[in-house]
Amino acid sequence: MSKLSVRDLSLSGKRVLLRVDFNVPTEVREGVTHITDDTRIQESLPTLQHLRAAGAKVIVMAHFGRPKGEVNPKYTLHPVAQHLSHLLGAAVGFSPESTGAVPAKMISEMHNGDVLLLENMRFHAGEEGNDAAFAKELAALGDVYVNDAFGAAHRAHASTAGIAAFVPQAAMGLLMEKELQYLHGELREPARPFVVILGGSKVSDKIGVIKALMEKANTFLIGGAMAYTFFRALGIPTGKSRVEADKVDLAKEILALAEAKGVRFLLPVDNLETQEISATAQPRPTGLVSPEKGISEDWEAVDIGPETIARYRAEIAGAKTVLWNGPVGIFELEPFANGTKAIAAALADSDAVTIIGGGDSVTAVKQFGYGDKVSFCSTGGGASLELLEGKVLPGVAALSEKI
Ligand code: 3PG
Repeated sequence: MSKLSVRDLSLSGKRVLLRVDFNVPTEVREGVTHITDDTRIQESLPTLQHLRAAGAKVIVMAHFGRPKGEVNPKYTLHPVAQHLSHLLGAAVGFSPESTGAVPAKMISEMHNGDVLLLENMRFHAGEEGNDAAFAKELAALGDVYVNDAFGAAHRAHASTAGIAAFVPQAAMGLLMEKELQYLHGELREPARPFVVILGGSKVSDKIGVIKALMEKANTFLIGGAMAYTFFRALGIPTGKSRVEADKVDLAKEILALAEAKGVRFLLPVDNLETQEISATAQPRPTGLVSPEKGISEDWEAVDIGPETIARYRAEIAGAKTVLWNGPVGIFELEPFANGTKAIAAALADSDAVTIIGGGDSVTAVKQFGYGDKVSFCSTGGGASLELLEGKVLPGVAALSEKI
């Protein structure tokens, strides 16, 4: 890894502009905003603590939601400042403006170790436009820049990328470093067998990842609705299951590619099917599928079946590296959660390096109580997918090289 790290910086007395991803799920109850999952905030604490302990003045930049360049109280970061203060056990200042005289004055009054959160970067059109003037105004507030916002590193915005051109040093934070270590470093030359579990609803969302990992993986285990586009490609009846009809040829290509490369590409051999998508549904097993007998007419496949679970568990048990992205069933509904639960349990039981590539599969692993039993859960959704596809993330590319 050739990028400068926050560990390489001299920090005492410095004004550090720290970009984090505090784009957390919230809900409003009785007019008050509650954070329903603070994982991203928790995961930024090591960098915040490192900076405070080293005597930096920490100026935190973040975005929340998609206010489209306009001030919108619905998307204020104020509740996040309060929550952060609670987690740090220290006061966190909040600047209602993100550039100009207001934050400049607040920053001039900060002591070493203090933390100040600036209002939502996306209240300015210059943020998403990666406007140089806005990036420069932000840069003027600090001495060095640290990017710990892995979840937003696929966005070339002013506070995630553009700002780096206007500071003497732009370093990655500890979370950014950890994300890159697992999603990039560990997978460069993975310990083998390397098993990739892919789920979710659409093949089209995962095509880039499949193609990139086809060069590295020994085995793919496919689940979720995307499996049924492959069923269609193989002539297995799909009933009313979700199929991307315009991606069937692509599915055929992927199957042929896997065969040509000697990569094992396993699809569910049985499924659970239902006529009703609800929390009280009673799905039934399909039995082993074949071109003669697949998902029943008028029924929809919603989870992998017991035989598939057993086979996938065995593959995971024999792996040395496992990467998982995308649930294998509609796990949000209890009757269809079995397969995803079993995969999560298999990863928790495994001695392999187990990496959960962000989004819904991280939610599932945590929901089923295995969050601390896997090697790594990414905080990035889109960012982790793009990194796994082999794309260069603008938020990483902009950082200073380690000399
Ligand atoms: C995320 O939640 O995935 C990141 O914070 C990026 O948010 P965005 O998709 O609104 O750019």
